[in-house]
Amino acid sequence: MDLDLTYPAVSDLRLKARRRIPHFAFEYLDSATGAELQAKRNRDALDAVHFLPDILPGKVDPDFTTRFMGTEYSRPFGIAPVGMSGLMWPGAERMLARHAAQTRIPYSISTVATRLPEEIGPIAGDMGWYQLYCPADPEIRRDILKRARDSGFTKLILTVDVPDDSRRERQRRAKLTMPPKITPRVIWEVLTHPEWSLKTLRTGAPRIVLPESYLSQADARSSLAHAGHVIRGTPDWDTLKALREDWDGDMLVKGVMCPDAAKRLVSEGVDGLWVSNHSARQFEAGPAAIDELPKVRAAVGPEIPILFDSGVASGMDILRALALGADFVMLGRAWHYAVAALGEQGPAHLMHILTDDMKLNMAQMGTHRLQDLAGRLIRATG
Ligand SMILES: Cc1cc2nc3c(=O)[nH]c(=O)nc-3n(C[C@H](O)[C@H](O)[C@H](O)COP(=O)(O)O)c2cc1C
Repeated sequence: MDLDLTYPAVSDLRLKARRRIPHFAFEYLDSATGAELQAKRNRDALDAVHFLPDILPGKVDPDFTTRFMGTEYSRPFGIAPVGMSGLMWPGAERMLARHAAQTRIPYSISTVATRLPEEIGPIAGDMGWYQLYCPADPEIRRDILKRARDSGFTKLILTVDVPDDSRRERQRRAKLTMPPKITPRVIWEVLTHPEWSLKTLRTGAPRIVLPESYLSQADARSSLAHAGHVIRGTPDWDTLKALREDWDGDMLVKGVMCPDAAKRLVSEGVDGLWVSNHSARQFEAGPAAIDELPKVRAAVGPEIPILFDSGVASGMDILRALALGADFVMLGRAWHYAVAALGEQGPAHLMHILTDDMKLNMAQMGTHRLQDLAGRLIRATG
Protein backbone atom coordinates (compact mmCIF):
# COMPACT_ATOMS: atom_id res chain seq x y z
CA MET A 1 0.00 0.00 0.00
CA ASP A 2 1.26 3.47 -0.86
CA LEU A 3 0.91 5.24 2.49
CA ASP A 4 1.35 8.65 0.91
CA LEU A 5 -1.72 8.12 -1.26
CA THR A 6 -3.84 6.52 1.45
CA TYR A 7 -2.87 8.72 4.41
CA PRO A 8 -1.48 11.95 2.97
CA ALA A 9 -2.31 14.06 6.06
CA VAL A 10 -2.49 13.81 9.85
CA SER A 11 -6.29 14.01 9.49
CA ASP A 12 -6.22 10.70 7.54
CA LEU A 13 -4.23 9.05 10.31
CA ARG A 14 -6.72 10.40 12.83
CA LEU A 15 -9.68 8.87 10.98
CA LYS A 16 -7.93 5.53 10.64
CA ALA A 17 -7.03 5.60 14.35
CA ARG A 18 -10.65 6.30 15.23
CA ARG A 19 -11.74 3.15 13.40
CA ARG A 20 -8.98 0.97 14.77
CA ILE A 21 -9.14 1.60 18.52
CA PRO A 22 -11.98 1.46 21.08
CA HIS A 23 -14.09 4.58 21.41
CA PHE A 24 -12.95 5.26 25.02
CA ALA A 25 -9.27 5.18 23.95
CA PHE A 26 -9.87 7.47 20.97
CA GLU A 27 -11.85 9.93 23.07
CA TYR A 28 -9.04 10.05 25.64
CA LEU A 29 -6.57 10.93 22.91
CA ASP A 30 -8.66 13.25 20.80
CA SER A 31 -10.68 15.24 23.29
CA ALA A 32 -10.22 18.68 24.78
CA THR A 33 -12.09 20.24 27.69
CA GLY A 34 -15.53 21.83 27.81
CA ALA A 35 -17.16 22.52 24.48
CA GLU A 36 -13.66 22.37 22.96
CA LEU A 37 -13.70 26.03 21.96
CA GLN A 38 -10.02 26.46 22.80
CA ALA A 39 -9.13 23.62 20.44
CA LYS A 40 -10.92 25.53 17.71
CA ARG A 41 -9.16 28.72 18.81
CA ASN A 42 -5.78 26.97 18.54
CA ARG A 43 -6.62 25.79 15.02
CA ASP A 44 -8.03 29.14 13.85
CA ALA A 45 -5.04 31.08 15.20
CA LEU A 46 -2.54 28.77 13.50
CA ASP A 47 -4.48 29.11 10.23
CA ALA A 48 -4.33 32.89 10.58
CA VAL A 49 -0.53 32.96 10.43
CA HIS A 50 0.26 33.79 6.80
CA PHE A 51 3.44 34.14 4.79
CA LEU A 52 4.28 35.92 1.57
CA PRO A 53 5.40 33.48 -1.13
CA ASP A 54 8.49 34.24 -3.20
CA ILE A 55 9.46 33.35 -6.76
CA LEU A 56 12.52 32.02 -8.55
CA PRO A 57 14.29 30.74 -5.45
CA GLY A 58 16.25 28.02 -7.29
CA LYS A 59 16.42 24.60 -5.66
CA VAL A 60 15.18 24.66 -2.10
CA ASP A 61 16.59 21.76 -0.11
CA PRO A 62 16.75 22.93 3.49
CA ASP A 63 18.90 21.29 6.14
CA PHE A 64 16.57 20.53 9.04
CA THR A 65 19.32 19.58 11.45
CA THR A 66 18.70 21.61 14.59
CA ARG A 67 20.96 22.17 17.55
CA PHE A 68 18.78 22.65 20.60
CA MET A 69 20.01 23.00 24.18
CA GLY A 70 23.32 21.37 23.40
CA THR A 71 22.04 18.37 21.43
CA GLU A 72 21.82 17.89 17.68
CA TYR A 73 18.45 16.71 16.34
CA SER A 74 17.63 15.75 12.77
CA ARG A 75 14.48 17.90 12.75
CA PRO A 76 13.21 20.93 14.69
CA PHE A 77 10.33 18.83 16.05
CA GLY A 78 9.74 15.95 18.43
CA ILE A 79 7.32 13.88 20.49
CA ALA A 80 5.48 15.56 23.39
CA PRO A 81 4.67 13.61 26.56
CA VAL A 82 1.35 11.78 26.41
CA GLY A 83 0.04 9.89 29.40
CA MET A 84 -1.28 6.34 28.96
CA SER A 85 0.19 6.02 25.46
CA GLY A 86 -0.26 2.26 25.76
CA LEU A 87 -4.02 2.75 25.90
CA MET A 88 -3.97 4.18 22.37
CA TRP A 89 -1.89 1.31 21.07
CA PRO A 90 -0.23 -1.47 23.05
CA GLY A 91 3.51 -0.87 23.15
CA ALA A 92 3.19 2.73 21.88
CA GLU A 93 5.90 4.06 24.22
CA ARG A 94 8.43 1.53 22.95
CA MET A 95 7.57 2.23 19.29
CA LEU A 96 7.86 5.99 19.68
CA ALA A 97 11.06 5.84 21.72
CA ARG A 98 12.61 3.51 19.14
CA HIS A 99 11.61 5.80 16.28
CA ALA A 100 13.03 8.81 18.13
CA ALA A 101 16.38 7.10 18.70
CA GLN A 102 16.60 5.89 15.09
CA THR A 103 15.76 9.25 13.55
CA ARG A 104 17.29 11.50 16.23
CA ILE A 105 14.29 13.46 17.42
CA PRO A 106 13.37 13.87 21.10
CA TYR A 107 10.92 11.52 22.78
CA SER A 108 9.36 12.72 26.04
CA ILE A 109 8.04 10.07 28.37
CA SER A 110 5.15 11.07 30.64
CA THR A 111 5.07 10.52 34.40
CA VAL A 112 1.83 8.68 33.73
CA ALA A 113 3.13 6.47 30.91
CA THR A 114 2.22 2.80 30.83
CA ARG A 115 5.92 1.88 30.83
CA LEU A 116 8.64 2.57 33.37
CA PRO A 117 11.52 4.99 32.71
CA GLU A 118 13.93 2.08 33.27
CA GLU A 119 12.47 0.29 30.23
CA ILE A 120 12.08 3.27 27.88
CA GLY A 121 15.25 5.23 28.75
CA PRO A 122 17.68 2.77 27.15
CA ILE A 123 15.49 2.55 24.02
CA ALA A 124 15.35 6.33 23.58
CA GLY A 125 19.09 6.68 24.23
CA ASP A 126 20.21 10.31 24.25
CA MET A 127 16.89 11.34 22.68
CA GLY A 128 14.94 10.72 25.90
CA TRP A 129 13.40 13.60 27.86
CA TYR A 130 11.58 13.04 31.15
CA GLN A 131 8.25 14.76 31.91
CA LEU A 132 7.46 15.27 35.57
CA TYR A 133 4.18 15.84 37.35
CA CYS A 134 5.80 16.97 40.56
CA PRO A 135 4.76 14.87 43.56
CA ALA A 136 4.16 16.60 46.88
CA ASP A 137 6.45 14.20 48.77
CA PRO A 138 10.09 15.33 48.34
CA GLU A 139 11.36 11.78 48.89
CA ILE A 140 9.25 10.48 46.01
CA ARG A 141 10.28 13.47 43.90
CA ARG A 142 13.96 12.86 44.42
CA ASP A 143 13.56 9.15 43.80
CA ILE A 144 11.79 9.75 40.49
CA LEU A 145 14.52 12.18 39.42
CA LYS A 146 17.17 9.61 40.30
CA ARG A 147 15.35 6.92 38.35
CA ALA A 148 14.99 9.23 35.34
CA ARG A 149 18.67 10.19 35.44
CA ASP A 150 19.83 6.59 35.94
CA SER A 151 17.66 5.53 32.99
CA GLY A 152 19.47 7.98 30.71
CA PHE A 153 16.98 10.85 30.40
CA THR A 154 18.89 14.03 29.69
CA LYS A 155 16.30 16.78 30.06
CA LEU A 156 13.62 17.31 32.67
CA ILE A 157 10.26 18.80 31.74
CA LEU A 158 8.16 20.12 34.60
CA THR A 159 4.52 20.41 33.53
CA VAL A 160 2.82 23.31 35.28
CA ASP A 161 -0.54 23.70 33.56
CA VAL A 162 -2.34 20.92 35.43
CA PRO A 163 -3.09 22.51 38.83
CA ASP A 164 -6.10 20.20 39.07
CA ASP A 165 -8.27 17.93 36.93
CA SER A 166 -10.23 19.31 34.04
CA ARG A 167 -13.66 17.90 33.29
CA ARG A 168 -12.99 16.59 29.76
CA GLU A 169 -16.64 15.92 29.14
CA ARG A 170 -16.06 13.75 26.06
CA GLN A 171 -13.98 11.33 28.10
CA ARG A 172 -16.77 11.09 30.65
CA ARG A 173 -19.36 10.47 27.95
CA ALA A 174 -17.15 7.69 26.60
CA LYS A 175 -17.26 6.14 30.12
CA LEU A 176 -13.49 6.26 30.48
CA THR A 177 -12.93 5.57 34.15
CA MET A 178 -9.80 4.77 36.13
CA PRO A 179 -9.62 1.88 36.72
CA PRO A 180 -11.72 0.90 33.67
CA LYS A 181 -15.12 -0.49 34.62
CA ILE A 182 -16.18 -3.56 32.70
CA THR A 183 -19.57 -2.53 31.36
CA PRO A 184 -21.46 -4.07 28.40
CA ARG A 185 -20.39 -1.03 26.36
CA VAL A 186 -16.69 -1.61 27.16
CA ILE A 187 -17.06 -5.31 26.30
CA TRP A 188 -18.65 -4.33 22.98
CA GLU A 189 -15.77 -1.93 22.20
CA VAL A 190 -13.20 -4.59 23.01
CA LEU A 191 -14.95 -7.21 20.87
CA THR A 192 -15.28 -4.87 17.89
CA HIS A 193 -11.57 -3.88 17.92
CA PRO A 194 -9.97 -7.34 18.00
CA GLU A 195 -6.44 -6.37 16.99
CA TRP A 196 -6.18 -3.73 19.72
CA SER A 197 -7.75 -6.16 22.19
CA LEU A 198 -5.51 -9.13 21.40
CA LYS A 199 -2.38 -6.99 21.51
CA THR A 200 -3.54 -5.45 24.80
CA LEU A 201 -4.12 -8.93 26.18
CA ARG A 202 -0.57 -9.86 25.23
CA THR A 203 1.00 -6.60 26.50
CA GLY A 204 -1.11 -6.40 29.66
CA ALA A 205 -3.80 -3.87 30.55
CA PRO A 206 -2.48 -0.30 30.41
CA ARG A 207 -1.62 1.00 33.90
CA ILE A 208 0.26 4.05 35.14
CA VAL A 209 3.11 1.95 36.41
CA LEU A 210 5.42 4.62 37.85
CA PRO A 211 2.87 6.25 40.20
CA GLU A 212 1.70 2.80 41.20
CA SER A 213 5.21 1.85 42.23
CA TYR A 214 4.95 4.46 45.04
CA LEU A 215 1.71 3.18 46.48
CA SER A 216 1.09 0.33 48.79
CA GLN A 217 -0.51 -2.56 46.96
CA ALA A 218 -3.82 -1.90 48.68
CA ASP A 219 -3.81 1.72 47.49
CA ALA A 220 -2.91 0.72 43.97
CA ARG A 221 -5.76 -1.72 43.85
CA SER A 222 -8.20 0.83 45.23
CA SER A 223 -7.86 3.30 42.38
CA LEU A 224 -5.62 4.21 39.51
CA ALA A 225 -6.97 7.75 39.69
CA HIS A 226 -5.73 7.92 43.27
CA ALA A 227 -2.24 6.92 42.11
CA GLY A 228 -2.38 9.75 39.58
CA HIS A 229 -3.31 12.28 42.26
CA VAL A 230 -0.62 11.20 44.71
CA ILE A 231 1.99 11.60 42.05
CA ARG A 232 0.74 14.87 40.63
CA GLY A 233 0.90 17.00 43.76
CA THR A 234 0.10 20.71 43.72
CA PRO A 235 3.44 22.40 42.96
CA ASP A 236 4.05 26.09 43.66
CA TRP A 237 7.02 28.44 43.20
CA ASP A 238 8.80 26.91 46.22
CA THR A 239 8.44 23.48 44.63
CA LEU A 240 10.06 24.88 41.50
CA LYS A 241 13.01 26.18 43.54
CA ALA A 242 13.43 22.82 45.28
CA LEU A 243 13.26 20.97 41.98
CA ARG A 244 15.83 23.29 40.45
CA GLU A 245 18.18 22.30 43.27
CA ASP A 246 17.46 18.59 42.87
CA TRP A 247 18.03 18.41 39.10
CA ASP A 248 21.43 19.47 37.78
CA GLY A 249 20.65 18.93 34.08
CA ASP A 250 18.56 21.01 31.68
CA MET A 251 15.17 21.85 33.08
CA LEU A 252 12.24 22.92 30.90
CA VAL A 253 8.91 24.20 32.15
CA LYS A 254 5.90 23.15 30.08
CA GLY A 255 2.60 24.97 29.97
CA VAL A 256 3.84 28.56 29.86
CA MET A 257 1.30 31.01 28.43
CA CYS A 258 1.98 34.18 30.40
CA PRO A 259 4.90 36.56 29.67
CA ASP A 260 5.30 37.64 33.32
CA ALA A 261 5.48 34.04 34.52
CA ALA A 262 7.96 33.33 31.72
CA LYS A 263 10.28 36.06 33.00
CA ARG A 264 10.02 34.79 36.54
CA LEU A 265 10.80 31.23 35.45
CA VAL A 266 13.96 32.43 33.73
CA SER A 267 15.01 34.33 36.85
CA GLU A 268 14.46 31.12 38.88
CA GLY A 269 17.06 29.36 36.73
CA VAL A 270 14.83 27.42 34.34
CA ASP A 271 16.76 26.59 31.15
CA GLY A 272 13.94 26.47 28.63
CA LEU A 273 10.27 27.43 28.28
CA TRP A 274 7.59 25.34 26.62
CA VAL A 275 4.70 27.45 25.38
CA SER A 276 1.60 25.25 25.43
CA ASN A 277 -2.02 25.25 26.54
CA HIS A 278 -2.00 21.46 26.83
CA SER A 279 -3.75 21.49 23.48
CA ALA A 280 -6.98 22.78 24.99
CA ARG A 281 -7.33 19.91 27.47
CA GLN A 282 -7.23 22.06 30.62
CA PHE A 283 -8.70 25.58 30.39
CA GLU A 284 -11.22 26.31 27.71
CA ALA A 285 -11.37 30.06 28.35
CA GLY A 286 -7.65 30.57 27.72
CA PRO A 287 -6.14 32.00 24.54
CA ALA A 288 -4.72 30.13 21.55
CA ALA A 289 -1.18 29.02 22.37
CA ILE A 290 0.28 30.34 19.11
CA ASP A 291 -1.00 33.84 19.93
CA GLU A 292 0.98 33.86 23.18
CA LEU A 293 4.20 32.56 21.65
CA PRO A 294 5.49 35.90 20.26
CA LYS A 295 4.62 37.60 23.56
CA VAL A 296 6.59 35.08 25.59
CA ARG A 297 9.50 35.39 23.17
CA ALA A 298 9.42 39.18 23.46
CA ALA A 299 9.33 38.96 27.26
CA VAL A 300 12.41 36.73 27.65
CA GLY A 301 14.51 37.86 24.70
CA PRO A 302 16.17 35.87 21.90
CA GLU A 303 18.54 33.66 23.91
CA ILE A 304 16.19 31.53 26.04
CA PRO A 305 15.26 28.24 24.33
CA ILE A 306 11.52 28.10 23.63
CA LEU A 307 9.47 25.10 22.56
CA PHE A 308 5.94 25.24 21.26
CA ASP A 309 3.02 22.80 21.07
CA SER A 310 -0.80 22.73 20.94
CA GLY A 311 -2.65 21.93 17.78
CA VAL A 312 0.30 21.38 15.44
CA ALA A 313 -0.97 19.13 12.66
CA SER A 314 1.30 19.67 9.65
CA GLY A 315 4.74 20.71 8.52
CA MET A 316 3.27 24.12 7.76
CA ASP A 317 2.18 24.51 11.39
CA ILE A 318 5.74 23.73 12.48
CA LEU A 319 7.02 26.49 10.20
CA ARG A 320 4.45 28.89 11.66
CA ALA A 321 5.64 28.26 15.21
CA LEU A 322 9.30 28.57 14.25
CA ALA A 323 8.62 31.86 12.47
CA LEU A 324 6.85 33.22 15.55
CA GLY A 325 9.73 32.62 17.91
CA ALA A 326 9.90 28.91 18.80
CA ASP A 327 13.25 27.11 18.55
CA PHE A 328 11.61 23.71 18.61
CA VAL A 329 8.10 22.32 18.07
CA MET A 330 6.45 19.32 19.69
CA LEU A 331 3.44 17.22 18.71
CA GLY A 332 1.41 14.96 20.97
CA ARG A 333 -1.73 13.62 19.35
CA ALA A 334 -0.34 13.34 15.80
CA TRP A 335 2.26 10.72 16.84
CA HIS A 336 -0.44 8.74 18.62
CA TYR A 337 -2.86 8.89 15.70
CA ALA A 338 0.03 7.57 13.62
CA VAL A 339 0.80 4.67 15.95
CA ALA A 340 -2.88 3.82 16.49
CA ALA A 341 -3.49 3.90 12.72
CA LEU A 342 -0.40 2.10 11.42
CA GLY A 343 1.44 0.53 14.35
CA GLU A 344 5.23 0.35 13.90
CA GLN A 345 4.98 2.00 10.47
CA GLY A 346 3.12 5.01 11.84
CA PRO A 347 5.91 7.19 13.21
CA ALA A 348 8.04 6.93 10.06
CA HIS A 349 5.08 7.87 7.89
CA LEU A 350 4.24 10.87 10.07
CA MET A 351 7.89 11.92 9.98
CA HIS A 352 7.68 11.81 6.17
CA ILE A 353 4.44 13.84 6.05
CA LEU A 354 5.82 16.57 8.32
CA THR A 355 9.24 16.79 6.68
CA ASP A 356 7.92 16.84 3.12
CA ASP A 357 5.31 19.46 3.98
CA MET A 358 7.96 21.67 5.58
CA LYS A 359 10.26 21.37 2.59
CA LEU A 360 7.58 22.00 -0.05
CA ASN A 361 6.19 25.04 1.77
CA MET A 362 9.66 26.47 2.22
CA ALA A 363 10.10 26.25 -1.55
CA GLN A 364 6.91 28.30 -1.98
CA MET A 365 8.32 30.94 0.33
CA GLY A 366 11.76 30.83 -1.23
CA THR A 367 13.31 30.22 2.17
CA HIS A 368 16.45 28.08 2.16
CA ARG A 369 16.93 28.12 5.93
CA LEU A 370 14.55 27.89 8.88
CA GLN A 371 15.99 31.19 10.14
CA ASP A 372 14.60 32.94 7.03
CA LEU A 373 10.97 32.08 7.77
CA ALA A 374 10.24 35.05 10.04
CA GLY A 375 11.18 37.37 7.18
CA ARG A 376 8.28 36.04 5.07
CA LEU A 377 5.60 36.51 7.75
CA ILE A 378 2.89 38.87 6.61
CA ARG A 379 0.45 38.44 9.43
CA ALA A 380 0.70 37.11 12.89
CA THR A 381 -2.39 37.20 15.04
CA GLY A 382 -2.21 38.28 18.66
C1 LIG B 1 -3.90 11.99 25.41
C2 LIG B 1 -2.98 13.06 25.91
C3 LIG B 1 -2.29 12.85 27.10
C4 LIG B 1 -1.39 13.81 27.56
N1 LIG B 1 -0.66 13.56 28.68
C5 LIG B 1 0.27 14.45 29.09
C6 LIG B 1 1.12 14.16 30.19
O1 LIG B 1 1.05 13.09 30.78
N2 LIG B 1 2.02 15.10 30.55
C7 LIG B 1 2.14 16.29 29.89
O2 LIG B 1 2.97 17.12 30.26
N3 LIG B 1 1.37 16.58 28.83
C8 LIG B 1 0.45 15.69 28.41
N4 LIG B 1 -0.32 15.96 27.31
C9 LIG B 1 -0.10 17.22 26.57
C10 LIG B 1 0.94 17.04 25.50
O3 LIG B 1 2.22 16.88 26.04
C11 LIG B 1 1.03 18.23 24.55
O4 LIG B 1 1.11 19.42 25.30
C12 LIG B 1 -0.15 18.32 23.61
O5 LIG B 1 -0.67 17.06 23.30
C13 LIG B 1 0.32 18.99 22.32
O6 LIG B 1 -0.71 19.26 21.48
P1 LIG B 1 -1.14 18.33 20.24
O7 LIG B 1 -1.65 17.05 20.83
O8 LIG B 1 -2.20 19.13 19.61
O9 LIG B 1 0.08 18.12 19.40
C14 LIG B 1 -1.22 15.01 26.83
C15 LIG B 1 -1.92 15.20 25.64
C16 LIG B 1 -2.78 14.24 25.18
C17 LIG B 1 -3.48 14.48 23.87
